[in-house]
Amino acid sequence: MPGTSEQIARLREEGLAALAAACTESELLAAKGRFFGKKGAVSEILKGIASLPAEERKAVGAEANRVRAELEAVFDSRLAGIREGERLAREGRDRLDVTLPGRALPPGHRHPISRTMSDIIAVFRRLGFSVQGGPDVEKDYYNFEALNFPPEHPARDMQDTFYVESRDGDLVLRTHTSPIQIRTMEKTRPPVRIIAPGAVYRSDSDITHSPMFHQVEGLAVDRDITFADLKGLLTEFCRMTFGPGKPLRFRPSYFPFTEPSAEVDIRCVICGGSGCRVCKDTGWLEILGAGMVDPAVFGFVGYDPEEYTGFAFGMGVERIAMLRHGISDIRLFFENDIRFLSQF
Ligand code: PHE
Repeated sequence: MPGTSEQIARLREEGLAALAAACTESELLAAKGRFFGKKGAVSEILKGIASLPAEERKAVGAEANRVRAELEAVFDSRLAGIREGERLAREGRDRLDVTLPGRALPPGHRHPISRTMSDIIAVFRRLGFSVQGGPDVEKDYYNFEALNFPPEHPARDMQDTFYVESRDGDLVLRTHTSPIQIRTMEKTRPPVRIIAPGAVYRSDSDITHSPMFHQVEGLAVDRDITFADLKGLLTEFCRMTFGPGKPLRFRPSYFPFTEPSAEVDIRCVICGGSGCRVCKDTGWLEILGAGMVDPAVFGFVGYDPEEYTGFAFGMGVERIAMLRHGISDIRLFFENDIRFLSQF
């Protein structure tokens, strides 16, 4: 047998190296089995002791036991080290610090069109008007016919109508909120004082037109309602919406359901009337269409035109929001770009 004490010294070196190289608990256990477990190399040496000359036995036995004890001590401390490392890794993964403040969700806010609509509604409610609604998919009868557009009237083309396929071919996406005038008068008797806000649809798209936009309709019917009442109401509406000192201008116009009809301009809110890009150097901005209810419309709802008169108006909500906020492209409202929307 080659020098047993050299063998033990080599086992010690190899055992220490194997323990140092082990990275996991099972690698560590494998090293233990190989070198100093019950059937490990050190045990084999101890078993062979009997065949050694008597004077060597004691020294070899003591040396083998000392090496086994040393390897066991190293094993224990490596095992503790590996377990600690695994614990730390696990904690890093599952770390939960209950003292951290919560992450606040940034609060959203209403869309500028929805806000402008609410503001317009609030002004008219204060002036004694109640709110009515109607369907977005509307009958041709309400959108056109009862509003005194005859079937082949060219104004139907002017409206850039979206027609909806249906059995009777009589459905459209409403092109304005005026059908709510008819729906309201069909179910109530005068006096009528209503506004009707809602989405409307026209096949039209550029920097000042969007295929879907919003209007607020107004209708007042009673005995002795005159054009002066319309002017007074709209003047007050503009004062409450745009502030004092903004004169209005009524320009003659045409709608089949009002007579006389007018388009109403407000003094340019950007330049104050001196002329700018927004008002195209006219000093005025168009904000709505209006007029006295045409007696023919009363005929469709069974109101006596000898007894009652009324006025109606319809304003574009996007238009008013653009003027209030100095926005030059209507499409910004519908692109959902947070950088735009968060400014309001
Ligand atoms: N409905 C018209 C439009 O959309 C506006 C209007 C409403 C005009 C009421 C007169 C009276 O253009």
